[in-house]
Amino acid sequence: MDQILLEVTVVKEEILNLIKNASDEIALKNVRETHLSKKSKFASLSRYFKDLNKEERAIFGEKINQAAKEIDLAFKNKHDELFFAAYQERLAKEKIDLSLPGINYQVGRLNPLRKVEDEILNIFVSMGYEVYEGPDIESDYYNFERMNIPSDHPAREMQDSFYFNPALLLRTHTSPAQARMMDAKKGEPFKVVCPGKCYRRDDDDATHSHQFMQIEGLVVGHHISLADLKGTLETFLKAIFGEKREIRLRGSYFPFTEPSVEVDISCAHCLGKGCSLCKDSGYIEILGAGMVHPNVLRMSGYDPQEYSGFAFGVGIDRVAMLKYGISDIRDLYQNDLRLFNNFYQER
Ligand code: DAH
Repeated sequence: MDQILLEVTVVKEEILNLIKNASDEIALKNVRETHLSKKSKFASLSRYFKDLNKEERAIFGEKINQAAKEIDLAFKNKHDELFFAAYQERLAKEKIDLSLPGINYQVGRLNPLRKVEDEILNIFVSMGYEVYEGPDIESDYYNFERMNIPSDHPAREMQDSFYFNPALLLRTHTSPAQARMMDAKKGEPFKVVCPGKCYRRDDDDATHSHQFMQIEGLVVGHHISLADLKGTLETFLKAIFGEKREIRLRGSYFPFTEPSVEVDISCAHCLGKGCSLCKDSGYIEILGAGMVHPNVLRMSGYDPQEYSGFAFGVGIDRVAMLKYGISDIRDLYQNDLRLFNNFYQER
């Protein structure tokens, strides 16, 4: 009996030893498969049962159970040990090198054009205007005819255009939105501002771009006068450029307004006295405007005897350039953040 019990201890020690020396998970798995299988030395120990009496069996069974428990625990501990070691090794290998410079994400900003557009629209919306954006691809009919610029009119020449076909072009100004709005209002009074892109076959230089932005303004109603136009533009321009600035109206010509005016604003630098910045004039031209031409009203179904209106067209690029001191219009279309970030240091 002692011999048998000793054999259990020897087999057990043998297995424990193998477990102890297993160098990795695969080796450990091999030990389990070969030394604990049904054909293993350990399993074959049970062959002694049949030669033992009841008491001896109990002792022998207890001894085997104890050995099995020990082996099982050793497997578990070894497994944990190997797993932890492998984990440590992986961690060491996968270490992140925090000394590498990170990716520098730049936060974008609104393009100054969009910012100025928003500002202008806000001013007019606060005065009760609605906002309407006409189409960029416009018909010759709306872009010119309805703006009182028939096909033989010399004013067309000033707006060299991108035509798709003789009847369709990229709009040369936002003014056609006036006619579209009047059509939609069907003889009712209204106030509207129409922002958007415009296109002309211009040379691209510091002050010209083949693509630029305008905001068109139009008020149609009863007893609308030039004084209303002046008051509105003064409110608008002072809100944009500051209370100190004065405005000045000069007679001008546009086919779709009569009378027509060019609106100037006093120079930011000398406030009207005259300096090198404004070429001694004291004023800088800012927009075109006028009283809606009776022909335009008539073509849109408004009786000029009953209705009058004023209109204006302002270049957003020009306002942005004057407001932020940008000397080259092309800078507005380059999306260079180094430049744009400077425009956010307000006047
Ligand atoms: N459409 C004109 C242009 O692009 C600007 C303009 C002038 C618009 C006078 C107006 C206006 O509404 O009354 O040159």
